Amino acid sequence: MSTLVTGGAGYIGSHVVRLLEERGEQVVVVDDLSNGIPARVPNAVLVELDLSAPDAESRLRAVMEEHDVTSVIHFAAKKQVGESVERPLWYYRNNVDGLANLLGAMEATGVDTMVFSSSAAVYGMPDSGLLSEKTECRPINPYGQTKLVGEWMIDNAARHGLKAIKLRYFNVAGAGWPDLADTAVMNLVPIILDRVAAGKAPIVFGDDYPTPDGTCVRDYVHVADLADAHIAALDHLGAGEIAESVFNVGTGRGASVLEVIDAMSRALGRHLTPEIAARRAGDPPQLVADVSAINEVLGWRASYGLADIADSAVPEGMRP
Ligand SMILES: NC(=O)c1ccc[n+]([C@@H]2O[C@H](COP(=O)([O-])OP(=O)(O)OC[C@H]3O[C@@H](n4cnc5c(N)ncnc54)[C@H](O)[C@@H]3O)[C@@H](O)[C@H]2O)c1
Repeated sequence: MSTLVTGGAGYIGSHVVRLLEERGEQVVVVDDLSNGIPARVPNAVLVELDLSAPDAESRLRAVMEEHDVTSVIHFAAKKQVGESVERPLWYYRNNVDGLANLLGAMEATGVDTMVFSSSAAVYGMPDSGLLSEKTECRPINPYGQTKLVGEWMIDNAARHGLKAIKLRYFNVAGAGWPDLADTAVMNLVPIILDRVAAGKAPIVFGDDYPTPDGTCVRDYVHVADLADAHIAALDHLGAGEIAESVFNVGTGRGASVLEVIDAMSRALGRHLTPEIAARRAGDPPQLVADVSAINEVLGWRASYGLADIADSAVPEGMRP
């Protein structure tokens, strides 16, 4: 028996691979290494494969049979909003075709358990800043659209026997282990670190939003907590009871951009004075997860806060 982790050489996937291995489970990683790093998964079987390639479904079937796969955690996807606006079709090919190939291989081999990486991007620009799973999904970019389409594909497969939990992550940051840190400079915490390393001030895009300090508020969840939510989801599916199949994953508390910069200042041991720039298009003022469903159904809640995220994100060479 083994768990197949697509995108397992990536930032979040590698944290889950390590947790599964700590539980003594067999793991097979499938990753095209477009953004993955093999050194993050030194103990897992690693199959280099593009899930959206024409022969991916048959290759996945062979991997599932060879390794006696019984469950799948699906992380592999492209995840940059701006890039998705530039190359929408490529995002659909990777994220939607890739999932179709994976679901086809699962159906053909009788693998019936899946945890899916969805995103708060499915909500788009909501009217209220506190989002429950019942908030209407109106994604505003191709990335968010591919995640919502992925959820629908899984809902359809669930009508034919798939047991699945979709996790809508909010803002993921920090590192559970130093060697698994987020190396891509795409999210706020790595962007702040990158600016500081280059001797530059962090940039705040807009300080006139209707929030307590005028900067955008988001829900930052520690990647170690998020990884743990996947284990809770797998265990829940294994126990055979599914009350809800989609859950927000966040802390339920918002932090502003200035609060994140303040936490990073403390972790770095130096005061960071940000530069204030104009608002960017498409940034809602506040996005915070209502996490009552995941608390109640999976018994999961975040255990780390912003200071833990900041401390764990600072690499060895930048610590005070
Ligand atoms: N990081 C976040 O803040 C965040 C928030 C919400 C949702 N997510 C979702 O979580 C998942 C993991 O994100 P991450 O931050 O670890 O990203 P990541 O880029 O570090 O990991 C994704 C992995 O998938 C692989 N991959 C991409 N396309 C592939 C393909 N066609 N075939 C095979 N492998 C492929 C990449 O090489 C990479 O190793 C993604 O689905 C992403 O959309 C991430």
